[in-house]
Amino acid sequence: MSNISREVKIWNLPVRLFHWVLVGCFITAWLTRDDRYLDIHVFAGYLMGGLILFRLLWGVIGGPYARFCDFAFGWREAWDYTKMVLKRCAPRFIGHNPAGSWGIYILLGLGVLVVITGLLAFGGEEGHGPLAGLLNYAQGAIAHDLHELLAWVMLGAVAVHLLGVLVESVLHRENLIASMITGYKSVPPGTVSAAGGRPVGVLMLATIIAAGFSWFYGYLVETPEQPYRPFVGQQLPDNALWREECGACHLAFHPSLLPARSWTVMMESQSSHFGEDLFLEQDAIDEITAFLAGNAAEQALTEAAWKIDQSIPKTATPLRITETQYWIDKHREISVQVWRSPKVNGKVNCASCHLDADDGTFEDAAMRIPVEADSSSAAVFKIFQKAVRYFSFNSSPPNRLEDKG
Ligand code: HEC
Ligand code: HEC
Repeated sequence: MSNISREVKIWNLPVRLFHWVLVGCFITAWLTRDDRYLDIHVFAGYLMGGLILFRLLWGVIGGPYARFCDFAFGWREAWDYTKMVLKRCAPRFIGHNPAGSWGIYILLGLGVLVVITGLLAFGGEEGHGPLAGLLNYAQGAIAHDLHELLAWVMLGAVAVHLLGVLVESVLHRENLIASMITGYKSVPPGTVSAAGGRPVGVLMLATIIAAGFSWFYGYLVETPEQPYRPFVGQQLPDNALWREECGACHLAFHPSLLPARSWTVMMESQSSHFGEDLFLEQDAIDEITAFLAGNAAEQALTEAAWKIDQSIPKTATPLRITETQYWIDKHREISVQVWRSPKVNGKVNCASCHLDADDGTFEDAAMRIPVEADSSSAAVFKIFQKAVRYFSFNSSPPNRLEDKG
């Protein structure tokens, strides 16, 4: 066979880029499931969505082996082919074989569903993305569960796909993984080549790099005085009198962090506020109480609000956010040394770790513990950051912290 076969380009650049960048997106998204890396996770999701859209288009206008009509096999054919594989007498296909084709359709379909449920969860739970506002928090949480379930199913489909690739490679004594990297396969003379597509591939690569660069640009130009916040949360209700009176000694804790009954009790006892007398006039008390109670945790203005409210027994009236079960759970892993370090200076000093504490949004991605040790990857990042700041002609970074109400 080898003396008459020749190397021909079967997978052109767009197909290979689609394949491997999709693999990269899947792995990245899997590794960034913790909400703290939500910005990376969401980028991987958008990229995955974009790649799938591109693949659907390329399945219509792409080269010979990429077009869907080249591997439009019915379910029966896929099943028969699988049986032949098991009997080790399956014929070799240059492009996608019937069973592999079904693997691709299933993976593409699951990818679409994972991206859609991800967007629904992102919109419902976090209030971000193109579908923000479509679902409320509880519905977003259901979409989130579905998103996770589908991701697991997709992982299973990936495993089956890999198994298929390995079995086929052994059966036909060819390295299918290598051919998806180089694009070449050893084929009989006369086989159509899928050359071309290089300009599209280069354009694709450039688009991906540009998208990544613009998505993460904020990190490259951030300064210690002006840290970058990946997701600037929706504007929460604000009140000038509350900010002035309740922000005098500590952060003006946003109303959404405690239930209405807690605020009412706190305001009624304002003359003995954690050992302080607030000396508020009655009309000030009334205005602030109305603002606090009207935007309290029950209103579920943010994810934190919803979860804090859920974590407090209906019979309890905590006066400290730091004593609610949700807060305790979320901060359990922080060591005493961190709490005591001068840069943090106690639990009540939320803003030392939460860049958006003032706004009350408490986005996961806006959380930075100021005393974390520098890792070597952080050091490399800092060098890169310096270079970018240098080459952006020392232009001042976009002022993201200024646009709060
Ligand atoms: C005169 C200073 C002062 C003012 C003004 C003030 N507080 Fe406080 N507040 C304190 C002190 C002191 C504590 C306890 C801090 C600690 O434990 O470290 C506290 C704690 C709190 C806590 C609990 C934080 C936690 O542990 O979760 C809340 C909530 C709170 N204040 C709300 C308010 C509100 C609402 C107002 C405006 C009506 C207000 N504070 C105005 C001094 C003040
Ligand atoms: C020492 C740094 C530090 C301080 C100070 C701090 N937090 Fe946090 N907070 C964290 C970390 C770390 C997490 C993330 C935990 C995780 O990823 O599960 C977190 C998570 C949260 C979350 C959950 C965010 C989400 O959507 O999952 C809320 C809400 C929150 N903090 C509120 C507060 C409030 C209110 C204060 C002040 C009373 C405060 N934090 C003080 C470090 C801090």
